[in-house]
Parts: sequence; C-alpha cells; structure tokens
Amino acid sequence: MTLKSILSTAILITLAHTEAFSQGRPATNIPHLEKRGTATQLIVDGKPFLILGAELNNSSASSMEYMRPLWPRIAATNLNTVLATVSWELLEPEEGRFDFSLVDGLIQGARQHNLRLILLWFGSWKNGKSTYQPVWVKTNQQRFPIIQDEKGKGLPTLSTLSDANRNADSRAFAALMKHVREVDGDAHTVIMMQVENEVGVLGPARDHSAAANRAFADPVPKEFMDYLQNHKDTLIPELRKRWEAAGFKTSGSWEAVFGAGVETSELFMAWNYGRYVGHVAAAGKAEYPLPMFVNAWLRQGKDKPGEDIPGGYPSGGPLPQVLDAWRAGGPAIDILAPDVHVPNYAEWCAWYTQSGNPLFIPESRGDARGVAHAIATAGKYDGIGYSPFGIDRLASPDGELGKGYQVLSQVAPLILERQGLGKVTAVLVDQETPRSKVRLGDYTIEARFNQGRGPAPGSAPVGAADRVAGLFLQLGPDDYVIVGRSMGVYFESATDATQSVGLAVVEEGQYVDGRWVAGRRLNGDETPEWKALWFAGDRYTIQKIRLYRYR
Ligand code: DGJ
Repeated sequence: MTLKSILSTAILITLAHTEAFSQGRPATNIPHLEKRGTATQLIVDGKPFLILGAELNNSSASSMEYMRPLWPRIAATNLNTVLATVSWELLEPEEGRFDFSLVDGLIQGARQHNLRLILLWFGSWKNGKSTYQPVWVKTNQQRFPIIQDEKGKGLPTLSTLSDANRNADSRAFAALMKHVREVDGDAHTVIMMQVENEVGVLGPARDHSAAANRAFADPVPKEFMDYLQNHKDTLIPELRKRWEAAGFKTSGSWEAVFGAGVETSELFMAWNYGRYVGHVAAAGKAEYPLPMFVNAWLRQGKDKPGEDIPGGYPSGGPLPQVLDAWRAGGPAIDILAPDVHVPNYAEWCAWYTQSGNPLFIPESRGDARGVAHAIATAGKYDGIGYSPFGIDRLASPDGELGKGYQVLSQVAPLILERQGLGKVTAVLVDQETPRSKVRLGDYTIEARFNQGRGPAPGSAPVGAADRVAGLFLQLGPDDYVIVGRSMGVYFESATDATQSVGLAVVEEGQYVDGRWVAGRRLNGDETPEWKALWFAGDRYTIQKIRLYRYR
C-alpha cells in the first residue's frame, strides 16, 4: 500500500463509521437482491433501488485527476449510479502487493457527488481477451497458461482450465472485496460488482490447448449432469432440445451428450467460464457478499456475417442459450446481464428474463432510444436498472440521458412499489411498430407513436426520438400515472367491450420529493378526440389521470 492509499483508506473508514453511527444503520444491511412478487429487486439501505446508471469509458477510473471535472458533470446528468473499472493490473502491480488508492478515490468521488458505484472487475478477461491482468501474469505463460486455437497457436487470452489463473484472479478479487467491506461496509456506496467483462473465446469456438482437449473428451462433469437432470423441465429450450436430440444421456463426453457442433463447443466453454468466474465471485463474496453479475457481448444479427456464431462473438460468454451452464457452474453469480448494442432490444430483454434471471443492462445506448430502453427495462421487464456505455461523452443535464433520467428519477419510487405485482408496465413504439397495446388493471392501454392531435406548446417538432417508451403505472382501479413522449395514449375497457372509456381528470405535473405537484389541467385540444392523452415530442412528461366508463 502506498502512503496516499493508506491515508485515503483511513479517511474512508472514519467517514464510513461516522455516517453509519449517526444514521443508526446496522452494519449488516448489505445491498442484496430480494424477491417481490414476480420481480427480483436490488435492496440498498433497506429500500428497493432502481439503478439509473452509466458506465465510464474503460480508462477513466485509472486517474482521479481525470475524474475530478467529470464527477460534477455526471451528477448533473441525474444518474444515481456510476459503473467504474477496477483493473487487476493497477490493483496488484506486484504479486501480493495491493494498491487500493484508485478504489478509495472512486468511493470518495462518488460519495461527494451523492452517487452509488458498481465496480467492474477487469481481471482475467475483458472483451474476450486478457489485457488487464498484471504484467507479472501477462509475461509468465508457463505459470499462467493461455488458450490455443486449432493449430496450437497461443491467443492473448488466459485459459479457463488453469487453477493458477483462477486462484491468482480470485485472490486479487477477494482482496478487493475485503477492502470494499472495510471502507464501505456501512455506507454502501458500492452496491454491486461486475465480475470480469464480456468473457468468451474470440476466434475459435473453444480452447484447443491440451488441457482443454482432454476436458472436452472427458465425461461431462457430474455437477453439470446433475443440474441438467434436476432442472430438466425448466432448462432453456435450445439446450434441452440439443440434449434431447442426443438422447437425454446422463453421462458421456460433451459431444456424446450434446452432439457435435460449435454449439457444443460454446456450451463447454460456458461451463468452464462459469466455473472459473463463479469461483472468483465466491471468493469475493466470502469477504463481502455484494450482488454480483457477469455481462455478455451478444450474438450479432445476420447483418454482421461471422459475428453471429460462437467465436465470432465470445464463445462461452453468459448468453441465454448457455444460461444453464453458467447457473450450474457459477452459482455465486446472481445475474447474467446483456450489453445491448444491437437493435432488437425487447427480444434480448425477453431472452435474459428466462429462468427468473433478473434484468440489468450494464451497457447500452445513452441517446433518446436509450432512455426509451431504460424505461422499458424498469417498467416492462421488472429490471433493476440500466446503464449506457461512455458517460464521459454523454454527461450533460440537457442531453437526452440527463432529461430522461430526470423524469425517471421522479417516478422511480412508484415503479419500485409496483414491480412484480402487475401494477406497472411499459411499451416501446417506433416507425416499425407504431402501435402497442397492453392491459393494466381493468383497462387496455394503447400507445400510438407520433399520434395525437392538438398543439404541444413549446415543444420541438414531434418525432425527435425514433423510438419511445410509454410507462403505465396503476395507482387505483381507475387511477393511472403515465409517462410518455411523441405519442397518443388511448384506453379501452378490458372487462366490458360495451363500455366506452372517458377521461375524468387529466393533470400534467411532476413528482417533487415523492409528492405529486400538478401543473396544467389538460382538456380540449390537449386531449385528442376528447378521449386520449397527448405527449409532446421533445421530452418525457408525466400525466396523472382518472378514467371513467360510460355506455
Ligand atoms: C463493450 C465493452 O464491454 C466495453 O468495455 C467497451 O469496450 C465497449 N464495448 C465499447 O463500445
């Protein structure tokens, strides 16, 4: 530890204790995941927490000097959480010597700006390669073996099939978690951990080193076979089909049990990454059991030939088709999380909510579409949060993200109270799918993209966002709060087709400290066709309404 690091650690420990004692918080109230109805929520300081996050660029957190002017810009963007890299190379520059000064600097910076942190452990792997391991690991391939391709050529990627690799990474991650507990175990600035970053083999579909070839020809490990048998009816359908096609065997080599093909290589790698990363996560949790997730580089669409097959995207990463291998191999990992840089957002959310996997989006877009995705994540998929990548560039209170998060933060408590209970939902609409209907309570609600009549005073031209979300919150049998943009919102009775639905009261307004503060009472031209809501095109706004029925 450097002197600077010792001093900042001492300050943090003192700060953490003063804060905890003065607020009377129990030291055991660690951020954790909790079931609520059909949802799983992140609980921070005893209350559900919706992550309105954003991720720093990869190298930003390596310099607190660089971070200094960025913190206030980030805070002004209405985020509540920053996702920040902690790299193995800077944490353990010499074997067994740890430098926590950057971690302490991040925690201090976040606290000063009233932000929470999710730390991203860039350990053995980052984007399918190994570039963040310390130089003493990088340069000693005898001790820390790398993977090989079909021709026996070494790739710059640590092998999953090495206890030395796994143990060295686990020791460092455990030291990090121990330190976070010591400096933050009371204040809970750090609320969750990402273990590694977008792992998987790039190039071949699996490791072809001698150790990997042996493991591939060996029987599928008993733990995985047991898991498959115990979860036979709830397995991800793709995996179940492959297992069934090969005869539901209960033992045999990987190819005997799952058939030949790149999908089996991918599954084999998923099991091995799951084992390794699960081991690292468990070592960290033994010190301080924060919720832990892994993130995935997704299979790309047909528009990117070659990137839609294992190896074209990192093979063995935590993708839906191999979710069961990750669950079985790494039970200490709480969430498999997609980095959604592809257009079909809703499909990926549906795939990642299979098998009760809670939805968290650690990387995605931060533009108008991104805000729509953040709303859908929380409202439609009971997600625990959203985080676009690259806040260094995105940070601005008047940008799409800043404006969107401002509105989302107003309604976050309402969303969290209703997740998992069937009292909140959302839709996405755009040019391709301009209309979307959903039932909530006894009403069917329809969002129509870019539609609705009546002037929207002071607003920019309608259609400034190419995809928007409608968020629907049920407050009572006939009472709703609706957040929308560039849309008309229409209502029908879901229980009696002979009834028409009218608007009893429509207010626009804001939630200030959780209390509704009404602005204009909307009627006439501002409620098109005298029966629908009209949301302007330039930003998300909130309307609180009461409906009635007539015949
Ligand atoms: C995905 C990676 O996970 C991030 O660390 C970053 O490199 C982005 N890609 C860049 O777009």
